[in-house]
Amino acid sequence: MKVIRTIAELRSEIQDRQQSGYGPVGLVPTMGYLHEGHASLMRKAREMSGTVVISIFVNPIQFGPGEDFETYPRDEARDVALAESQGVDVVFIPAVQEMYPQPTKTKISVAEITSLLCGASRPGHFDGVTTVVSKLFNIIKPDYAFFGMKDAQQVAVIEQMVRDLNMDVTIVPCPIIREADGLALSSRNVYLKPEEREQALVLSGSLRTAQEAIQQGQAATAGEIRAHLREYISRSPLADIEYAELLTFPELVPVEDSYRMVDGDSPVIMALAVRFGRTRLIDNALIQPK
Ligand code: PAJ
Repeated sequence: MKVIRTIAELRSEIQDRQQSGYGPVGLVPTMGYLHEGHASLMRKAREMSGTVVISIFVNPIQFGPGEDFETYPRDEARDVALAESQGVDVVFIPAVQEMYPQPTKTKISVAEITSLLCGASRPGHFDGVTTVVSKLFNIIKPDYAFFGMKDAQQVAVIEQMVRDLNMDVTIVPCPIIREADGLALSSRNVYLKPEEREQALVLSGSLRTAQEAIQQGQAATAGEIRAHLREYISRSPLADIEYAELLTFPELVPVEDSYRMVDGDSPVIMALAVRFGRTRLIDNALIQPK
């Protein structure tokens, strides 16, 4: 496995591998502090690609003022070891100066679906994501790029960008990986104090019980499910709900409270963002049409 820090060296490594006939290039973009969720994307990439590249870059332009860019957890040695154990071929770890030698004057911006959910509380966040992901696509020219459904809105936004701009890459969404007790893995889980970590189970718990209520016919409408999610999460005194929403996926159109779940012909996503102290957690679950 090669660890590469410059764009020039990365381009030439990928070109060499292409000329040697390794086959499709798979990219897993990350911000590091890797966990089993990231590892699952690497394994999927390994299955589908001859060359697996992962990027580790804490992208400053997707963090707002007062967010955790400076304190975002970092552990390069552990990340490199984890990537190696998953059979990754190339780890790209650029410095901020390498990716942004001058402040970028060009940004990629997806409209509408970036102004709700996480986009509402994090203005400019998705522009930062789509801009850096476009740069990575231009540098690496991957055939496949792997993204976790943990960040479902990010998947919808990137798929929209790829369609709108005719980017020659296939986006592969991958399932959410959870701890044994249900908490979705996240690099930010390390911020949680023990009491917050316990109460954070209300996210996955509310989604699981909502799915059960739908299956058992106890919650028939979107309004009932919204009420259930809010009521369940509010049982945790430390939880501060930012949103608990139901929307069509991947279009991200909010569904009306009167919407009857059994009547739907498109997948609906239950999407949550909940704060515990200074830590913001997100989680979601898809409800497939019958
Ligand atoms: P990061 O938060 O490091 O996540 C990298 C990828 O891992 C994303 O596609 C994310 O959805 C996926 N991931 C994280 N936790 C997961 C889990 N529990 N199960 C499955 N997949 C999981 O997302 C970003 O970085 C950045 O925005 C990035 C796309 C790299 C652009 O800077």
